Amino acid sequence: MDKPTQPPLDSWWMPFTPNRQFRAEPMLLARAKGMHYFTPEGRPVLDGASGLWCVNAGHGRPEIVEAVTAAMTQLDYAPPFKIGHPYAFEAARALRQILPPDFTEVFFVNSGSEAADTALKIARAYHVARGEPERVWLIGRERAYHGVNFGGISVGGIPYVRAAFGPLLAEVDHLRHTHDPERNAFSRGQPEHGAEFADDLLRIIGKHGAQKIAAVIVEPMAGSTGVLPPPKAYLERLRAICSEHGILLIFDEVITGFGRLGAPFAAQRLGVEPDMICMAKGMTNGTIPMGAVAARSHVHDALMQGSPAMIELMHGYTYSGHPAASAALVATLDIYAREQLFDRARSLEPYWEDAIHMLRQAPNVIDVRNIGLVGGIELQPIDGRPGARGSDVYRRAFDSGLLVRVTGDTIALSPPLIITEKEIDEIVGKLGDAIAGSSKELA
Ligand SMILES: Cc1ncc(COP(=O)(O)O)c(C=O)c1O
Repeated sequence: MDKPTQPPLDSWWMPFTPNRQFRAEPMLLARAKGMHYFTPEGRPVLDGASGLWCVNAGHGRPEIVEAVTAAMTQLDYAPPFKIGHPYAFEAARALRQILPPDFTEVFFVNSGSEAADTALKIARAYHVARGEPERVWLIGRERAYHGVNFGGISVGGIPYVRAAFGPLLAEVDHLRHTHDPERNAFSRGQPEHGAEFADDLLRIIGKHGAQKIAAVIVEPMAGSTGVLPPPKAYLERLRAICSEHGILLIFDEVITGFGRLGAPFAAQRLGVEPDMICMAKGMTNGTIPMGAVAARSHVHDALMQGSPAMIELMHGYTYSGHPAASAALVATLDIYAREQLFDRARSLEPYWEDAIHMLRQAPNVIDVRNIGLVGGIELQPIDGRPGARGSDVYRRAFDSGLLVRVTGDTIALSPPLIITEKEIDEIVGKLGDAIAGSSKELA
């Protein structure tokens, strides 16, 4: 295969990237197969991050390419407003098969950010349809990431993601986060301590009144902030408080969906059913942009029965349920089922857990966290230079042939679910070396 030549590195204003630095020291990927990326020079890079948490079945799956090609050849595009097409209906039905039983409806979007904003809008519209229009408050959580749209950054809880963008949604409040390293450092799986953090919702209810609150949105496992598995019994408690007060509970499963935690969704793995589930990554194995909000029947029923408008939900995107994305979803679900990748993730979990906890011995490691095929390795920040150590380890890992994610000084790992035990050892070996090398050179 011809090697792609390096293009001039101008014109593409890159997302979430230090663009000035990138152009001085670019990192490029040219192709991918299985567990590996390859740089333009042909150097293999083991994918410890599933791209960006989304290539759960490994790279370059021909079944998906064939399904997308066939769909595009047959129906390149069809408007989803007031006219349907078989690809999206088939995809929604296929998705239902892996959702918890009462999740009867699927609203397609094109990204995780759109999924989060869509779920928030459905929550408000649900209360309007049920005759409680004063329920408008949306409750997020500190350290949460729900994408980059205005709704998502309003309920999100990572300050630097919203710092530059002025006033956001007004009727928003945040639960306290669940990170508690004093009690939970080096936990394996769900931490023992912290169920009581869910009671922070009672404080917020006391402040605004339950009758004003539309929904609570949380990531079952907070991903982008640096991997925070939920404390035992925490989500159960949140669910109970929401149910008692008529508040909808939304799980943002953009990261935890599609087998990442060893079950189709975290809702099943953790045994807690929200009212809506947001999803995106893993849906098409990273091939075509797609996201969705799955809603339980009572949410949909309320709008179908109570909405005075002809169009029950005044919301949608030009590319909702695009034929190519729908075909990619069906083909991806087929691979997950045929290769039993969600079960595979679950059965690899003990090996994964033991392996990444060995990194505890590396210098400057202050916490290791894991659940499913996810790992978080938190490093001691350098005084006055937060994030510097994390960035340095990230770059060293890449140069040694390993792709990881970094947020601040936490390295996040989330390999494709096809990973072998040998490749898990390779991740741990390369990351351990990167951390040790970085510790020698940085104070
Ligand atoms: C929990 C969660 N929600 C939403 C998003 C946003 O997804 P996207 O980048 O596809 O808009 C992300 C992305 O990392 C996420 O982790």
